Amino acid sequence: MFQAAAKTFWVASTTSREILSTIRHYCKKTPTTLRVSEAVSGAGLDTNIKVQGWVRSVRPQKTHLFLHVNDGSSLQPLQIVASSELNNPSLTFGCAVEVTGTLKRSPHQKQPVELEAHQIQVVGECDPVDFPFKIKERHSLEYLRQFPHLRCRTNAFSSLLRVRSEATTAIQSYFKKNGFVQIHTPVITSNDCEGAGELFQVEPSSPESNEDENFFSVPAFLTVSGQLHLEVMSGALSKVFTFGPTFRAENSQSRRHLAEFYMVEAEVSFTESLEDLTKVVEDVFRSATEHVLAHCPEDVDLFHKHVTPGHRETVDSMMKKRFPMISYTEAIDILNRSSEKFAFPTNWGCDLQTEHEKYLVKHCGNIPVFVTDYPYDLKPFYARDNQDHPEHTAAAVDLLVPGVGELCGGSLREERLDLLRARLEEAGLEETYSWYLDLRRFGSVPHGGFGLGFERYLQCILGVENIKDVIPFPRFSHSCLL
Ligand code: 4AD
Repeated sequence: MFQAAAKTFWVASTTSREILSTIRHYCKKTPTTLRVSEAVSGAGLDTNIKVQGWVRSVRPQKTHLFLHVNDGSSLQPLQIVASSELNNPSLTFGCAVEVTGTLKRSPHQKQPVELEAHQIQVVGECDPVDFPFKIKERHSLEYLRQFPHLRCRTNAFSSLLRVRSEATTAIQSYFKKNGFVQIHTPVITSNDCEGAGELFQVEPSSPESNEDENFFSVPAFLTVSGQLHLEVMSGALSKVFTFGPTFRAENSQSRRHLAEFYMVEAEVSFTESLEDLTKVVEDVFRSATEHVLAHCPEDVDLFHKHVTPGHRETVDSMMKKRFPMISYTEAIDILNRSSEKFAFPTNWGCDLQTEHEKYLVKHCGNIPVFVTDYPYDLKPFYARDNQDHPEHTAAAVDLLVPGVGELCGGSLREERLDLLRARLEEAGLEETYSWYLDLRRFGSVPHGGFGLGFERYLQCILGVENIKDVIPFPRFSHSCLL
């Protein structure tokens, strides 16, 4: 019996040995598929690897062919070195390839590694004559804007997309670390939070049989802000945030307005001071920027070196100093004392225009500056009344930043039922907002919040002049490509 068992064991272990050796043999032969970022960082050195991506440059020489291949995982492409025999006419700038070979240390200083290709397969051809981007040209962001379906193939736009993605991660993780609950506020809503009337109405494209009836039985719109829905949730979860698309039917072609943009909004219960809010705003700004600088330095450098030379110093000085805070009244004073000729009036009670905002930022040392306590009449119904006289103000705050102007708007919310009701009554909105008044009827607490424009944030840290260049598919009046 012992002999039989030993025989069985010997047979079993021989089989597993064979299997192991087959696996080893197979692994040696079968290349490991790596992202370009993994390969350029040296993963898989001296082994057989496969990369898939798009050709960014082709340099045929007498005996050798050099390619740069990128798959969007990093700004750095992978250099491919191949015998000229592997060259073929469809291997052009922009085509898609699959390359297998051995990853070797590079003898050149420009790149740490290169892939000695055994095989290059063109997966998708690209006619270099018709392709709108040319191999050695540096195209302007404005030129790229004409090709929203192709601009992600360029270094500049793929860098922007990686920065955008990292900044999103950083913002989410800031809120998570600081005890905020994420709320998915609705995209379709029946209220106009800002009261500015910049709404897109939502209706089915082929109306129901009764054309007089709204699909939702009430007029419905794309959200201009998730604030009011966040306020509902802060009444139970204390600290909440949302980060999603926001829509404004602004007939503006300006460099800082879109019809669809992303907004980071937060709402904090049990707070009676604007400083509590400005601390969150400043911390979000700093932690997102630190994360982006640490996680995609090459992508950020591309913008700071080639798009807005010198912008890195502005970013560094923003990160070094605390953001100052001035009141609206002080801001008006500064504007009135300046020798600058403004196109718009600067008397107390006027809305601050972009030219004013930019001047104030410069005046404060070209770093972000908080402006607080705006005229009561300039702010929406939800802003908390400071009950001051003779200059009647609301506890509202804006963050103004270099190059952009207003990045963020927030306020303490009017939590006192009688004051809120009176203001809504005055505007004829008491019935529409009866649910909002309920929040003040049942367990109302002092609270506040803010909204930060994500695209304007990206403009600010990268130094990009036009907001249309920091969003994948810009929507603005008279333009909705794709
Ligand atoms: O100042 P806003 O209108 O504030 C609100 O909507 C508040 N309800 C937010 C809140 O307290 N939860 O907008 C906030 C920010 C602006 O400071 C700006 O950065 C950005 O959103 N923004 C735009 N960004 C791009 N295109 C537009 N048309 C924008 N309108 C506002």
